[in-house]
Amino acid sequence: MSSNGKLAREQGPREQWGGSLGFVLAAAGSAVGLGNIWRFPYITGENGGGAFVLVYLICVLLIGLPIMICEISLGRFAQRDPVGSFAKIAPGPTIGTRMLAMILFLAGILMLIFARVGLGLVFLAASVSFFFHGWRTVGYLCILTPFVILAYYGTVGGWTITYFLKGVFQGLNFSTPQEADATFRQIADTPKIAVTAQVGFMLLCGLTVRFGVRNGIELVSKFLLPLLFLLLIILIVRGVTLPNASGGVNFLLSPDFSKLSTGGVLLAMGHAFYSLSIGMGALITYGSYLDSKKNIFASGLMIVLLDTVVAIMAGLAIFPAVFSVGMPIDQGPDLVFQIMPIIFNSIGGSFGWFWSSVFFLLLAIAALTSGISLLEVTVCCLVDHFRMKRRSATFWATLVITAVGVLCTISHNDWSSLETLRQWITQLFGGARNSMFDLADKVSSSYMLPISGLGISLFVGWVWGTSAAVRELRRGAGPLPDVNFFALLAGLKDDPIAQAGTHTFTLGMIWGIFVRFIAPIGIVIVFLHSVGWLDIGL
Ligand code: PHE
Repeated sequence: MSSNGKLAREQGPREQWGGSLGFVLAAAGSAVGLGNIWRFPYITGENGGGAFVLVYLICVLLIGLPIMICEISLGRFAQRDPVGSFAKIAPGPTIGTRMLAMILFLAGILMLIFARVGLGLVFLAASVSFFFHGWRTVGYLCILTPFVILAYYGTVGGWTITYFLKGVFQGLNFSTPQEADATFRQIADTPKIAVTAQVGFMLLCGLTVRFGVRNGIELVSKFLLPLLFLLLIILIVRGVTLPNASGGVNFLLSPDFSKLSTGGVLLAMGHAFYSLSIGMGALITYGSYLDSKKNIFASGLMIVLLDTVVAIMAGLAIFPAVFSVGMPIDQGPDLVFQIMPIIFNSIGGSFGWFWSSVFFLLLAIAALTSGISLLEVTVCCLVDHFRMKRRSATFWATLVITAVGVLCTISHNDWSSLETLRQWITQLFGGARNSMFDLADKVSSSYMLPISGLGISLFVGWVWGTSAAVRELRRGAGPLPDVNFFALLAGLKDDPIAQAGTHTFTLGMIWGIFVRFIAPIGIVIVFLHSVGWLDIGL
């Protein structure tokens, strides 16, 4: 009896989403997060507006969507956590992974010789893993990445809850940047407040995940995502009806390519991965709870659409108000936590607190549904792999991730409270960035996401193979993967003669080409850029 069969007998049948809508909303809840409402507006502000948005949209469509479909189909095919999914398709090492292991081993030795100890050890560990476990190594990375992201995501999640509560109790009534800064510092730099808020955020995530896929994650997403849309619409209506709001709308929607640098293009691509929650185990995990009657093609498209629409809507909620009050738009990460309350106080008068509360509730909801998906990856792995009960898996995962996250919270600003750790990291890696928070963010988004994203697309494109993957896609999607792309564009999808043309170019084929070539090459470019190896005149 296969280990899968044994597992199913011991734990009962695998939980499944209640319906397509539940799955789409849960996955969209994972994608829609701080990336959309906090990060997207400020990087758009710093990179010139409309042209950046356009490039971002192209990246989402050309690279994001194909990889999203890869991850969901991989998870659904395997019906296992990310490590189990890779293991099911490629159970052991192959000649290819052993050769890769050798190359990594040599690179690791070279780094040790050249005194890059930390990196050398990472390469050696990867080589050992590839040598003995083959492609499962990418699965390990898919588990580790959400762990690291959630550690610092919990810190920001805690801030959003604190800001929401402060707003409700009228504690955000400031009108100058100095006061805004002082309030932010008081929240983020008072360990008692920041840690309590983070623990509260993690408990909310844990509580949801504990109740399982259908009664926890799906239920909460079905309630929170519509609420999120409602809050966004309220804020947009408030924003665009302000005097001089059109400047903000134009800034966001009319492209001016002279303002776009190469760095901006690459940033847009990196943000697409982060924002769509791809390049790690979240969508493999969510896909593993999907049954064979659901349409992965259509669901993936819907998730991407929702995520993108929320990003644009967040821009529309923020920029018109910023322009109307005449505040600077390129304030970086401070835009949301410091500038927005000032703006709401200035436009809302004595109702400023209300608008701030709505805005931070929106942020907290977005953060929560993403946090839930990050936690679920670890929980799913503990349940599938170590055969733990969901309840205790959730307890341990929440506890350990919160403990690591507390380190990020207490050192979000600098390393002063963790000096020994800083010294170790500096000795091993030659630097430790400004803070533990900063380090976790940088390591996960610049290194871990692109590497596992690359691993996933290469694995699906070349190891599992696009033909097996398309077979999986066909289940539940009817003829959609085999529709002639041009016939579809021309509205001739059901026309038998157009459909049967000998030179058809089907959606499945287009997807395959993107997965095998375009996405991996794109990721390599982003990756080399983000680690500073590809300096193309920025
Ligand atoms: N997509 C989330 C956001 O936009 C972040 C995230 C990344 C969540 C990876 C889950 C997995 O904020």
